[in-house]
Amino acid sequence: MAKFFYPQITFAASIKRHLPKESAFTLIDAPCGNGETSYHFARMANATVRGCDVDDKSLGNARRHFSLPNLTYEQQDIRSLVAESPRFDAFCIINSLYCFPDCERVLSQLRDLMHSDAQLFIIVDNIEGGENFRRFAASNPAASPKSHQAPSSQLHAIKKAEFHSFFESLGFVVKDVTPIVYTHSHHPLAGRLLSIFCHFYLAALNVFQTSLRIGQPNYYLIRLQRAAPAS
Ligand SMILES: C[S@@+](CC[C@H](N)C(=O)[O-])C[C@H]1O[C@@H](n2cnc3c(N)ncnc32)[C@H](O)[C@@H]1O
Repeated sequence: MAKFFYPQITFAASIKRHLPKESAFTLIDAPCGNGETSYHFARMANATVRGCDVDDKSLGNARRHFSLPNLTYEQQDIRSLVAESPRFDAFCIINSLYCFPDCERVLSQLRDLMHSDAQLFIIVDNIEGGENFRRFAASNPAASPKSHQAPSSQLHAIKKAEFHSFFESLGFVVKDVTPIVYTHSHHPLAGRLLSIFCHFYLAALNVFQTSLRIGQPNYYLIRLQRAAPAS
């Protein structure tokens, strides 16, 4: 039961659609938080997964609750991780880009590490219509970032109309942008259900809302590849 939470299961499912089904591949999930999405990726037998996060406590939870033989966890600031030149076929930045210090620099370094078929998956909040983001902002008016995070004045909350120009200016090709997670995780009915059923309820509701496009997506999945160098 502990291994199924909403919306992480939906984050992972939206990315897994684009991963190789049979050939071996390496994936880095950074920051991985409590490891849940890394775990879903590592359930693919052909995957070798590295989950990295700066926060020791989150990594402790990850190792306790979300461990698999083909999944390793490391304490790493994203800036030192990209400077170490890791090799990967897929790199996932899930619901975290907004808090990176030196965001453009991290993305540029990542771009330089990508081989021509490597994919970068970025999941960002829908800051214009997403109920999740609206509630987060309302309940954290004075969110004070920690030393490894960007100051609040520099949080990278990108609007949908800016996705292409922002990533293209950093040398990426935007393969596609997919609206995901139509059901927000603060749904009023979910709170009244027992917590173990709540995630199933939200996931089922999400399938329904997504197929009928009811409401607004709470996140976008942006799929990127490295742009070919100019000749
Ligand atoms: C909102 S959580 C998302 C975690 C995970 N991707 C998920 O979707 O469950 C953001 C994470 O970013 C991590 N983080 C913030 N700044 C970081 C940095 N400079 N380097 C690495 N991790 C960082 C935090 O510790 C936190 O676990």
